[in-house]
Amino acid sequence: MGFVMETLSVNKEGNLALGGVDLTEVAACFGTPAYVMDENYIRENCRVYINALNKFYDGNGLALYASKALSCKYIYRIMKEEGMGVDVVSGGELYTALAADFPAEKIYFHGNNKTDDELEFAIEKNVGRIVVDNLPELDRISAIAEKQGKNVKVLFRIKPGIDAHTHSFVQTGQIDSKFGVALETGEAEQIVKYASELKNVTPVGVHCHIGSQIFELAPFTLAAEKMMNFIGDLKDKYRIEISELNLGGGYGIKYTDEDDPIAYDKYIEAVSKVVRSVAEKRGVKLPFVIMEPGRSIVASAGLTLYTVGAVKEIPDIRTYISVDGGMGDNPRYILYQSKYQAASVTNPLGKDTKKVTIAGKCCESGDLLAEGAELPPMHAGDLLAVLATGAYNYSMASNYNRIPRPPVVMIKDGETRLAVKRESYEDLIINDL
Ligand code: LLP
Repeated sequence: MGFVMETLSVNKEGNLALGGVDLTEVAACFGTPAYVMDENYIRENCRVYINALNKFYDGNGLALYASKALSCKYIYRIMKEEGMGVDVVSGGELYTALAADFPAEKIYFHGNNKTDDELEFAIEKNVGRIVVDNLPELDRISAIAEKQGKNVKVLFRIKPGIDAHTHSFVQTGQIDSKFGVALETGEAEQIVKYASELKNVTPVGVHCHIGSQIFELAPFTLAAEKMMNFIGDLKDKYRIEISELNLGGGYGIKYTDEDDPIAYDKYIEAVSKVVRSVAEKRGVKLPFVIMEPGRSIVASAGLTLYTVGAVKEIPDIRTYISVDGGMGDNPRYILYQSKYQAASVTNPLGKDTKKVTIAGKCCESGDLLAEGAELPPMHAGDLLAVLATGAYNYSMASNYNRIPRPPVVMIKDGETRLAVKRESYEDLIINDL
């Protein structure tokens, strides 16, 4: 069994190393639990998307990092340096991006229920695009833009009628989603037409996002085809020219040996062919193509380091290995029963493995990080790594049981640096009155 993270290795001391740095040293320096990430790997992932857009689509596009996967100032600085755009879904993500000096014109603002405060903030800061979710929101955007004397470029969140699940996808009505407006009911057409008549709003694009952790090309090419035909319909029926096509994110990553992701450039290769062919067939200009990867940029770059505490062997039932973190820093098991690979940091290739349950320290029986994890004998004080936790872990972390959130440590060119400090007990009570 190999490790699911490409940049994880075993060094000559026999310890796990990430980006060439021994994880026992990281633990000694920053403590546990800690999120540890390989910065160069994050940067390489950005380049895969950018290079693919250059190669297969003549650079006529932009890769946006969906920052809900991991939002902190450090990551927005990386994205700025790599020439990425970013997708934000709240005033808080927007504020963080701007605090990191991320260029506002490359920020796309999403969300199914943006508040007036958030919209005012986004418009005041001149975000590049707002992705409109529904008609009342469009009216609010238009009114706020008018009040601020601005014109806002918008995309529309469309439900293309494709429901992509892991390992399979179905075409459904899929009207039952809280996100966006439906194609097949005519709702999508109406909102674009309505927007085209507004003074302070310019409709420039259409957007869809068909799901997450997807391992197939077909749902994406089908979505591209439907969206391109929609662009064709808008032109034929209303003479409305749509110049941007945003196909969202959702590209799958390897959490366990069962996952077999496709190389990310293959998605843009396949999609670009469909976009070109429908554009030609329908006589529309080639749109600017946008992709919004989140998980695939950061997930496999990161792991979480824990220290083992109690080891409880329940004969003929199971062995619990409890660690000094849990659902507070990684709620994905309790939420989705997500699977993770784990490894002993000082005995990563240890024989004599057995299946164990890794448990967190929260007062909740369901607070597990993995079941059936193959590990060599583990003892109190040993370091344990849970792999591929770079996405939707720190960003979804909570202070349940008043446990401080771990730090985010970045490794770059053999050096470690803090991206986010460990929370202190004082931080926990900072807003308590
Ligand atoms: N664009 C939009 C509009 C999205 O809603 C999402 C994710 C993305 C892009 C990025 O998708 P990705 O490339 O990361 O799959 N908390 C869940 C994932 C929720 C994803 C929500 N939207 C998890 O931990 O698996």
